[in-house]
Amino acid sequence: MKIEWNENLSTGVPKIDAQHKGLITLINALEEAVESRPEDAHHLHDKTYKATIIGLVMKLRDYAFYHFYTEEIFMRSIRYPGYIRHRREHDIFSLRLLKYEINVLEGDYMQAEDLLGFVMSWFSNHVRITDMAYVPHASTSGGEGSAQKETEAG
Ligand SMILES: [Fe+2]
Repeated sequence: MKIEWNENLSTGVPKIDAQHKGLITLINALEEAVESRPEDAHHLHDKTYKATIIGLVMKLRDYAFYHFYTEEIFMRSIRYPGYIRHRREHDIFSLRLLKYEINVLEGDYMQAEDLLGFVMSWFSNHVRITDMAYVPHASTSGGEGSAQKETEAG
C-alpha cells in the first residue's frame, strides 16, 4: 500500500515539505517495483528487476541522507533544543538503511521488501511525531519556517 501525502504531514516549512514529498515519491516507486516482482521462482535471475531495485534503493538512500542534512541545518538555524535527539533518530535510521542497502547490493534482493517495510513505517511515524515536534519552535524562533506558519494561522 502506498504512502499518501496529506496535511497532517505538513511541517509548514516549504523546503522540508517538498523533500518529504520527494521521499514519498521514491518510497512509492520502490513499493511499485517490489510489487511487480516476477512471480516465477527464477525472478532473482531477472536482470531488469535487479537493476530497478538496486537503482531505487540507492536513490532512496541518497535522497534520505540529503534530506536529513537539510533538516538538521534547518533545526540548527532555529536553535531547536531537540536537535541532538532528533539527529540521533536520523543516524539510527541511516545505519539500518545502510545495512539493508549492503544486503541488497550483495545480491539479497528479498531484503528490498524488508527495507521497504522498515522505511514506510519509520517515515510516517518520524514525520508525524519527531518532525512535528520542531514545528511550534520553528514558528516562534524567527527561523525560515516562521513566515509560512504565520500566514497559515491568518
Ligand atoms: Fe526528521
